[in-house]
Amino acid sequence: MNDKVLREILEIDDWRHPYQLRDGQTVKMAKSWFTDWHQWRLGTVLEQQEAALPGGLTGAKVLDIACNDGFYGFDLLKRGASSLVGLEARDDALQRARLIKDHFEFHQAEFVQANVQTYDLKSLPGAPFDLVLFYGILYHLSNPVETLKAIAEVTEKQLSIQTFVTGDEDPVLRLWTENLVLPGAGMQTVALNPSQSAVAWMLEYAGFDLIVRVCPPYFWAKDWKPHGPRRHFAFFHAFKGDEGDCAEIRNRFGVTKVYEQEATHTQVIEIDHTTEPLIPNFAGASRTAQSGDR
Ligand SMILES: C[S@@+](CC[C@H](N)C(=O)[O-])C[C@H]1O[C@@H](n2cnc3c(N)ncnc32)[C@H](O)[C@@H]1O
Repeated sequence: MNDKVLREILEIDDWRHPYQLRDGQTVKMAKSWFTDWHQWRLGTVLEQQEAALPGGLTGAKVLDIACNDGFYGFDLLKRGASSLVGLEARDDALQRARLIKDHFEFHQAEFVQANVQTYDLKSLPGAPFDLVLFYGILYHLSNPVETLKAIAEVTEKQLSIQTFVTGDEDPVLRLWTENLVLPGAGMQTVALNPSQSAVAWMLEYAGFDLIVRVCPPYFWAKDWKPHGPRRHFAFFHAFKGDEGDCAEIRNRFGVTKVYEQEATHTQVIEIDHTTEPLIPNFAGASRTAQSGDR
C-alpha cells in the first residue's frame, strides 16, 4: 500500500462516494447521506446489471461516463469486468479517481478528461464497450438526443442509465438552470430534464433494440425546484441484440409490460419495483437532500 496516496485520500474531506480503503478506514464524505444513497444504488442497480449483461460481466469492457471519482466503474472491476475507461469533465474529480486507482492498484482502469457532449467517443481507448454506465448525467446535458446516439455507437451490448426524470407522461425535455458551482453539475448553464417516455424515445432513436424501464421504486425529491413537480429517480437499461438475445433478457428480468414501436420494432419492457422495500434510513436521507446538490 502506497502511504503517500493513502495520506492524500484521507486529507480530502468531501468525497462523493463511500470508499472503504484497504486498511479498513473509510473516506470522509461531503454529506453523510451520500453513503446510504450510493450503497443503495450499488446494491440494486449494479446487481441487476450483472445479472442482465449478455455474456455476463466477467471479461466485460466497461465505459463509465461522468465517472466522477470512479466509484461505480471500480465496483464493476471488482465484480469481474476486464477493463474500465472513466470519462469525466472535471479535473478535480479525475484526480480523485486516479488516487483510488493507485490505492487499489486497478491497473485495468484509465481515465479521460472530456465533455461527453463534444468528445469523439470512438477515439476512447478500447472503444467500443460491452457495458456503458450513464449515471447521474443525462439530466445535466443540453443535447441529450444526439449524445445518446453517439454513446450508442460505442455500446456493443448494454447502456445503463440512472437519471432524474420529470413526472410528465408525455415525452418532454424540460429546461432547467444548472448551478455550475456545485461539484456534480453539468458543464453549461442550461440542461434538459427528460420524462420517462422521453428517455425511452431517445434510446429508441439511438438504435437500441430493447429498453428496460425499471419502474421507480419510490418517488423522491417531489418538491425540488426548479426541476418541475414530481421529479424522481429512474433506471433504464438499453440493449443491442437479435430477437434471441432480447428474449433471453426479457426472461431474466421479471417483465410486467411490453410495448413495441411499430416502426423500429424496438421493445420497451417494464419491470416493477414499486413494492421493493427501501433501504431502512432512506426516508431520512431524502429529507436532507433539499440543497439540490446532485
Ligand atoms: C451527479 S454527478 C454523478 C457522478 C456519478 N456518475 C454518480 O452517479 O454518482 C455528475 C458528474 O458528471 C460530470 N459531468 C457533468 N457534465 C458532464 C459532461 N458534459 N461531460 C462529462 N462529465 C460531465 C460532473 O463533473 C460530475 O462528476
